[in-house]
Amino acid sequence: MSSFDLKGVIPNNVGLDEKPELAAMLGAFREDFLGWWGEMGPEGFDHAQVWLRTPTGVDAKGWASYDYVALADYRWGIFQAERDPDELAAFGAQAGTPKSDCIPAGFREAMIKLLVTQGDTEPGSVEQSRRLGRIAPSLYDLRNLFQFHVEEGRHLWAMVHLLGEHFGKDGAHESEGLLERRSGDAENPRILQAFNSPVTEWLSFFFWCTLADRDGKYQLLAMSESGFDPLARTCRFMLFEEAHHMFMGDDGLRRVLQRTADLMIEHDTDDVAPHGGINLATFQRYLNYWAPQTIDLFGNEVSDWAERLFDAGIKGRAYESIRYEDHVRLDDAVEISLPGEDGALEMRSMPQRRVLNEVLRRDYLRELDTTVRRWNRMLRKAGIATEIRLPDSRFNRKIGTYKSSYFTPDGRPINKLAYEAGLSDWLPSAAERKHVQSLMTPVFAPGKVAGWIAPPSRGIGGEAVDFEYVKL
Ligand SMILES: [Fe+2]
Ligand SMILES: [Fe+2]
Repeated sequence: MSSFDLKGVIPNNVGLDEKPELAAMLGAFREDFLGWWGEMGPEGFDHAQVWLRTPTGVDAKGWASYDYVALADYRWGIFQAERDPDELAAFGAQAGTPKSDCIPAGFREAMIKLLVTQGDTEPGSVEQSRRLGRIAPSLYDLRNLFQFHVEEGRHLWAMVHLLGEHFGKDGAHESEGLLERRSGDAENPRILQAFNSPVTEWLSFFFWCTLADRDGKYQLLAMSESGFDPLARTCRFMLFEEAHHMFMGDDGLRRVLQRTADLMIEHDTDDVAPHGGINLATFQRYLNYWAPQTIDLFGNEVSDWAERLFDAGIKGRAYESIRYEDHVRLDDAVEISLPGEDGALEMRSMPQRRVLNEVLRRDYLRELDTTVRRWNRMLRKAGIATEIRLPDSRFNRKIGTYKSSYFTPDGRPINKLAYEAGLSDWLPSAAERKHVQSLMTPVFAPGKVAGWIAPPSRGIGGEAVDFEYVKL
């Protein structure tokens, strides 16, 4: 078992005290990181005391210890789940052989690309939402926002650690780049497009956590059984933290719908905007706007890259060892609509190994669908017949097979003209955006919440809803 150092400048359980070169590289990164955090981290609350959870161990008990911490004093640590010496490689050509701490031969560049792409999302999501503190709907939500920010920062550290430990100078160079790109920057944007879309109000932030952090969960799951063991153990620990980000999104949106439902009944109308609420139609359009961007994150439907990573034992499927029997051939058929000889889409049968991105995407969509159905159950219980619908996975895509064809949110193919005309009805209008933005007035009294969202049903870390989660 690796020793747990909580006292050092960089708390860790990866043996930094025995690795002077790596410690020096991370020490230099820390200087740059703090510069980036000062410039691009959460705006305006450096000295507030925030009720944050911080890892003090990597087991089920130790990973979340709650206390007041000033954001300016937060120490980002590097933590991996414990090594299991008996665990064997779960999938790919090496399935069933001992796991390794070495990069599979011929995959050095691919591994760097994978780590950089994952690492780049973490500071990207902090930059996107850095201004939301000033317009938080409650202290409870403000605290959750900061928890999200410090943990996304820590996930960046996790990737930088792997880059530094296994890729020497190249890894150090790539780590600098992770702090140089900026969300939405015209010259040097974040790598994945969704991480360049501004998140300027809390409705979008909640959608972000439900959609993008759930994408994060599935990407981490697919790497959590990697035959490259340091990656597996890093991702396993990150998954602990990701669960709360998704909860923030799922429950935040549930609270929005709850408030909308209450206002609809109280005023006997679908149009709750004049009463300070968010209409269901607006909620639906925000979902239509954000969902395709995160569906794109899974990449091309047919992918050589995903197949190569699988064969090399680097990136598998979600729940690889418990859900599947075959971890090598992957030749069973997956039905998918793809362009035929004349270019028109038709249903085809593909061996699973050719469409691994799509397999992961379908898992993601199934879980999202469960969330949406939960919201609809709540609306039905409140006596409201309108349902929220997850847009079809081919709607408004910018990456993959469907980027050059046109579909409605309910999955009907249409022509370009009708599609372009439809977009104004399917996506949020300028007036809706303005209304949502206008609702964002901060509420900072313990236990109080803004009028557009219902209060949370319970507190965090064993505390009550009206606990002073942030001491301003
Ligand atoms: Fe993350
Ligand atoms: Fe996250």
